[in-house]
Amino acid sequence: MTVHVATTTAPVNIATLKYWGKRDANLNLPTNSSISVTLAQDDLRTLTSAATSESFEKDTLWLNGKEESLSNKRTQDCLQDLRDLRHQLESQDDNLPKMSQWKLHIVSENNFPTAAGLASSAAGFAALVVAIAKLYKLPQDMSELSRIARKGSGSACRSLFGGFVAWEMGEAEDGSDSMAVQVLPLDQWSQMKAAILVVSDLKKDTPSTQGMQLTVATSDLFQERINKVVPNRFIEMKDAIIKRDFTKFADLTMKDSNSFHATCLDSYPPIFYINDTSKKIIRLVHSINSFFNETIVAYTFDAGPNAVLYYLEENEYKLFAFLYKLLNQVEGWEPKYNKEQLNGFKSIFENDFKEKIEFFMDPELYQSITRIILTRAGPGPQDSKECLIDEETGLPK
Ligand code: DP6
Repeated sequence: MTVHVATTTAPVNIATLKYWGKRDANLNLPTNSSISVTLAQDDLRTLTSAATSESFEKDTLWLNGKEESLSNKRTQDCLQDLRDLRHQLESQDDNLPKMSQWKLHIVSENNFPTAAGLASSAAGFAALVVAIAKLYKLPQDMSELSRIARKGSGSACRSLFGGFVAWEMGEAEDGSDSMAVQVLPLDQWSQMKAAILVVSDLKKDTPSTQGMQLTVATSDLFQERINKVVPNRFIEMKDAIIKRDFTKFADLTMKDSNSFHATCLDSYPPIFYINDTSKKIIRLVHSINSFFNETIVAYTFDAGPNAVLYYLEENEYKLFAFLYKLLNQVEGWEPKYNKEQLNGFKSIFENDFKEKIEFFMDPELYQSITRIILTRAGPGPQDSKECLIDEETGLPK
């Protein structure tokens, strides 16, 4: 039997202007445009191989070594759209193998532990769509493919590009203009770094799909957000990114995280994603910025208590002078810095800053952060030499 295989990686992205709310749940169309930063893949990525063969009996997915169902509607919608595009090609060229009629085997792995507490659906759907598009040799560009990834999970459409990405909400009822576009390529602002502070949390969050539906249905504040706040902020944030104005970018990012969480609190019954530790991180970031009299770091929170801090490489020592105690106590940063460098940050803090600061470094903060992932802005989906499917058998290696 002939097995055709293609492999890709796809990154995680973290929004700086949040997508929250659907105007059409079936097509996964948002109530507002959003913006995100794509994160580097050495730290966080999904690797996906897709295979097809006339002899495969059913569509099958193996995720992190376990067979998982492909039956949910969103995945089915993505597969159908990709098969339709392949079918168009086949109808124009009789020599092409009729892959659109064959079953698919998909094998997918994340390089980050589930314990990292990060949602992986964005990278997962982005990798699924790109791997199959490669397998089918589709001519569509990344923006066009992002419309398909969007149906899998809204935020996934932004993972088709590297650097700084916008998801334009569009106007068309069929969703044909609701897709991702690049705002600024990675190499034009590659100094952007990110520290993910993983916060321990015992209770389960309301899943984002469910949470945003509740907000749309019940929050009055949400109307203000989507009609007035976000449309202006979308223009301002794109402008700040294009001009590489970190202060502006960071201030808008923090405000937008707060605005999104305010609409969660304004939902009825209210949804709480950020917890006391998250609030301590918010206070710490504002204290650091006011200490330097300059916005050098921004926080943002998704549908959970973990913080993502954005900062520029040139300011890393300033930030870490304040975070060294934390770095000393949690896991995750080790591949990036050794103890000696960490002591360097400590001495910067002690020699240069300590005398001048008055705010209280809350020891409880360090106890509730379980892990820190030091990463940076990164590229979009990449080819990979690694293939997860055996080309003889069509099964996971
Ligand atoms: C808070 O993309 O997970 O992370 O479209 O229902 O799958 P679905 O939602 P999802 O929501 C992400 C919400 C967010 C903000 C963002 O990423 O923009």
